Amino acid sequence: MTLLVLAGTSDARQLLEGLQGADVIASLAGVTRSPADLPVTTRKGGFGGVVGFRDYLVENGIKGVVDATHPFASKMTQTAAIVCAELGLPHIILQRPEWVASVGDDWHFVDSVAETATIIPVGSTVFLGTGRQTLAGFSCLEGRKLLARVIDPPQKPVLAEFQGDFLIGTPPFSIAEEVALFRDKGIEWLVVKNAGGQNSRSKLDAARELGLPVVMINRPKLPDAHVVGSVDAALKWVRAQAW
Ligand SMILES: NC(=O)c1ccc[n+]([C@@H]2O[C@H](COP(=O)([O-])OP(=O)(O)OC[C@H]3O[C@@H](n4cnc5c(N)ncnc54)[C@H](OP(=O)(O)O)[C@@H]3O)[C@@H](O)[C@H]2O)c1
Repeated sequence: MTLLVLAGTSDARQLLEGLQGADVIASLAGVTRSPADLPVTTRKGGFGGVVGFRDYLVENGIKGVVDATHPFASKMTQTAAIVCAELGLPHIILQRPEWVASVGDDWHFVDSVAETATIIPVGSTVFLGTGRQTLAGFSCLEGRKLLARVIDPPQKPVLAEFQGDFLIGTPPFSIAEEVALFRDKGIEWLVVKNAGGQNSRSKLDAARELGLPVVMINRPKLPDAHVVGSVDAALKWVRAQAW
């Protein structure tokens, strides 16, 4: 049997480390320019929607799928759920728990990037920790000073679409580093996707320490599928399969 792991997250990497030696293929979308190698055979690039994904599974004898993509990678997650249900393939979504506000946090929840404009006052200096893909949508924040942190230096299309400055950096960052950054740049608001996990949580701890408000973008809705919340639970599921 061959298991397909839809990757692109630190959880996927950890899961694949636990599956070394098994018959596993990892898949990356190919959006990060130089991703660190994964410890199993890896394919890269989109499948070509529902039809392409179905063809890939059938042609490669895939017997099960773990969707360990990012909580905001909703297109891939919907495609995988639809096709696996259609083919009757064992399938789970590995999605870490959401971040939850605690005492001292000043979080404002929204369902879309566009809604951030209804909350963040004109004239504010705003840190965007939302990644490269959604940057064009922040044209809604006209009149605010925007600072976006991205992993890869942005290329021309993104530069043309986004009216703001860039910081290049790869997580994790310590709370002290985030506090120093927000102070140095005069940050007044943060915009964050509710990704969950420890790797990128320090910006929220830093915001709390500085008393900064955060606009938290809620996760997209999950398809009707079996969801597990930890790498250990995903490993357990894989080992329990009868292949
Ligand atoms: N969205 C985020 O904030 C975020 C943050 C960190 C990492 N990532 C990772 O970056 C990748 C792309 O994210 P996204 O938000 O653009 O996702 P998306 O909107 O769900 O996906 C866009 C398209 O990229 C392809 N794709 C996505 N994940 C893939 C994978 N693991 N293997 C092969 N093809 C994949 C699919 O193309 P086809 O339709 O042609 O098959 C999909 O329709 C994901 O793998 C995700 O885990 C995303």
